[in-house]
Amino acid sequence: MTLLTHRIGGVDRVVVMTLVIAQYGQGGPDVLRAENRDLAAPGATQVEVEQKAIGFNYFDALQRRGFISQDEPGRVMGIEGAGVVTAIGAGVTDFAVGDRVGYLRSQGAYAATRLIEADLLFPLPQDIGFEAAAALTVKGFTAWLCAVRLFDVQPGQTVLVTTAAGGVGSLTARLATYRGARVIGVVGSEAKRALAHDNGAVEVAIGLDDAIDLVARLTEGNGVDVVFDGIGADTADRLLDVGSVRSGGTIISFGASGGWPKADPDAVARRGATVVAPQVPNYIKTAAELRAGMAEVFALYRDGGFGEISPARYPLRDAAALHAHVESRTASGISVLVP
Ligand SMILES: NC(=O)c1ccc[n+]([C@@H]2O[C@H](COP(=O)([O-])OP(=O)(O)OC[C@H]3O[C@@H](n4cnc5c(N)ncnc54)[C@H](OP(=O)(O)O)[C@@H]3O)[C@@H](O)[C@H]2O)c1
Repeated sequence: MTLLTHRIGGVDRVVVMTLVIAQYGQGGPDVLRAENRDLAAPGATQVEVEQKAIGFNYFDALQRRGFISQDEPGRVMGIEGAGVVTAIGAGVTDFAVGDRVGYLRSQGAYAATRLIEADLLFPLPQDIGFEAAAALTVKGFTAWLCAVRLFDVQPGQTVLVTTAAGGVGSLTARLATYRGARVIGVVGSEAKRALAHDNGAVEVAIGLDDAIDLVARLTEGNGVDVVFDGIGADTADRLLDVGSVRSGGTIISFGASGGWPKADPDAVARRGATVVAPQVPNYIKTAAELRAGMAEVFALYRDGGFGEISPARYPLRDAAALHAHVESRTASGISVLVP
């Protein structure tokens, strides 16, 4: 946040400026621009947050490319972050200046300081660092939703996790391992094999063809109990087609890195399978739901369910460089932007 004094109408006024990363056009990382913008005072129901860490999500890349949002020139990127409350609107009672807070699914996160509706915030416990919070909020919540709430992973089950070196995929693999399952990871290249092992995968496949062979071998043709899929596109159809999911098994299609997930209803019915494509916003419709969910995520983190969280750090100003690493598929794990 920068304070500048401007002469307006013959009077000196303090103007508050903040660094943001905005999107102009749709396409590659070059559509992102760093700029300084005026920061208004918070409205009655809003809070001003000085951000300490901002989470990168694949959602940001999809939005930048125009896959999931209309073109809105000047839109500030990003949906999650963590920081300290620096001002509150007149009607805000849940938070006070100095509180540590975090949020998810609220557009405008790529900013040094931002305004946000108080209802969208959760209190950040003292023992959770800002970078861990920014790393865990969307991705930890999604992993918890998949591997605890929607499919309660049990000891002894066999689990297939695609994008096992990515953000949500790595946390889902760790959580399933922590809960006693045997995890088979899938990654896109040999370079990511070791990462998937680090995330708990006992066996790692490179690409889906390899995964189908590996599952057949490790489950003696029976298929896995559950698939957590971050690729989307025809992944569910392909796995159902060859019996990689056990009869009565489950596919949770949480992601769309390769295209929107689809599953042929006839193939689903033939296998007696359950296919779910959850969207986080449907599970955080109220402040109470959001805060209760995040409390569960942080409790699991304290207990070791997500392992050690040490995200790659990029200066906020260099957001385009982070996007370029994601685009070339050389980025792995979790990345945060630091103002
Ligand atoms: N349902 C929800 O509410 C929800 C919540 C959070 C995230 N998501 C979605 O979950 C997915 C993963 O998110 P994330 O933040 O964990 O992303 P991430 O860390 O960037 O991981 C995505 C992974 O996808 C793989 N990938 C990239 N481009 C691909 C392509 N063209 N085809 C196939 N695989 C590709 C890469 O792994 P390899 O190179 O190893 O293949 C990459 O590690 C995204 O689609 C995101 O939108 C959904």
